[in-house]
Amino acid sequence: MNERLLLGLDIGTTKVTAVIGELATDHVLDVIGEGSVPSEGMKRGVVVNLERTVEAIRAAVQAAERVAGVKLERAYVGVGGPQLASFTSHGLAAIRRGQTITPADVERAIEQARVFPLEGDHELLHVMPLEFKVDGQEGIHDPVGMAGVRLEVEVLLVASAIGPLSNLRRAVQASGLDLAGLVAVPYASGLSVIRPDEAEMNVVVLDIGGGTSNLAYFKDGRLAFAKVIPIGGEHISNDIATLLKIPFEEAERIKQKYGAAVPELADPELVLEINQSGHTAGGIPAPELARIIRPRVREIFMLARKALEEAVGPIEVVASKLIITGGSALLPGVNELARRDFSLPVRLGRPGGVEGLADMVSSPAHAVAVGLLHYAKQYGDEKKLHHSHLVKKSPYKSNASPVWERIKSFFKDFF
Ligand SMILES: Nc1ncnc2c1ncn2[C@@H]1O[C@H](COP(=O)(O)OP(=O)(O)OP(=O)(O)O)[C@@H](O)[C@H]1O
Ligand SMILES: [Mg+2]
Repeated sequence: MNERLLLGLDIGTTKVTAVIGELATDHVLDVIGEGSVPSEGMKRGVVVNLERTVEAIRAAVQAAERVAGVKLERAYVGVGGPQLASFTSHGLAAIRRGQTITPADVERAIEQARVFPLEGDHELLHVMPLEFKVDGQEGIHDPVGMAGVRLEVEVLLVASAIGPLSNLRRAVQASGLDLAGLVAVPYASGLSVIRPDEAEMNVVVLDIGGGTSNLAYFKDGRLAFAKVIPIGGEHISNDIATLLKIPFEEAERIKQKYGAAVPELADPELVLEINQSGHTAGGIPAPELARIIRPRVREIFMLARKALEEAVGPIEVVASKLIITGGSALLPGVNELARRDFSLPVRLGRPGGVEGLADMVSSPAHAVAVGLLHYAKQYGDEKKLHHSHLVKKSPYKSNASPVWERIKSFFKDFF
């Protein structure tokens, strides 16, 4: 099989997206196929109907394969759902007096950090070193070659619940694909929307999808916190449907066509026609619609802030930028509202770092699928870690280049 062909599969609550990338010899990632179909077997980022999910995966992958003119057997799959959680853990390795730190010492410290009492039945997805300390000195990114007697590491562990994970695996396998890797969705999103000039900054990425909002905090370009909030664009549409007493589909339609997150951005002269069973059932001024939408968006912001503050500290202090992506980022006024609520610079995140049919995947709703390709490009050779139940190997390999060099080159290769 051609290892240069990569398949990213984002099994979302609203849609299933497959993106096929080809890794060119010059390390450029070309998008060569894309397929998206509505997702009906998912709820809040978790498989609730296996058959429907399998059908959607097959349809999305086939559509992408038709565009690309290739067939793929393995997929990198995003893991979402509110069971996803991140933890920081510490590891320690003693270094023999008179010797310098070797990759094997680093490996040993990381191994120790991954022995972490996970809540209930959780399975580890990622083990990522954040920072090293040598003899108490902090802020070291690559300790290999340094002298010292005490090597400490702070590691981010990302885990999810075994039940939803096994249903996700079953859905992928039943659709005829092997699992090349499982990747936390908030992480994947960040990998595609953070620009190289932001890789040294501390940024928050908020991917507002259909049933969930994925929150990720990147410190100096490294994932330092991830969480899934079980509220997304579908809740906004539900609010509209309930308050206006119209079907969900009609609420979804008017939201996408006329919706805004701040009433000031809505045309005060515009009165929207509402359809009920094919008939016009009255009108609503556009600013009124925005007043229905705004509280839900603010609720998502509030929950994101709370989660971040509990984990890493006051957002205005720990972050210098907020990037909003996901399908619901297309709602006009979301950035303006976020700017006010977070007192941070805010921008819309679109997937980047790819060439070829890049315009097919330029929507913020494609952030995760494209991020999966970036992940595959960078870590594809370490696939064992990501699909075995018992995680045995850390992502740090003694024969690989130092972690930090690789992270830096990752963001450099980007655009
Ligand atoms: N132009 C638009 N204006 C407002 N909302 C939009 C627009 N386009 C899409 N959306 C909303 O985006 C949401 C879907 O986003 P996305 O495709 O990122 O979700 P998903 O990945 O399937 O779901 P999840 O990440 O929660 O599992 C829907 O709720 C949809 O209404
Ligand atoms: Mg999504």
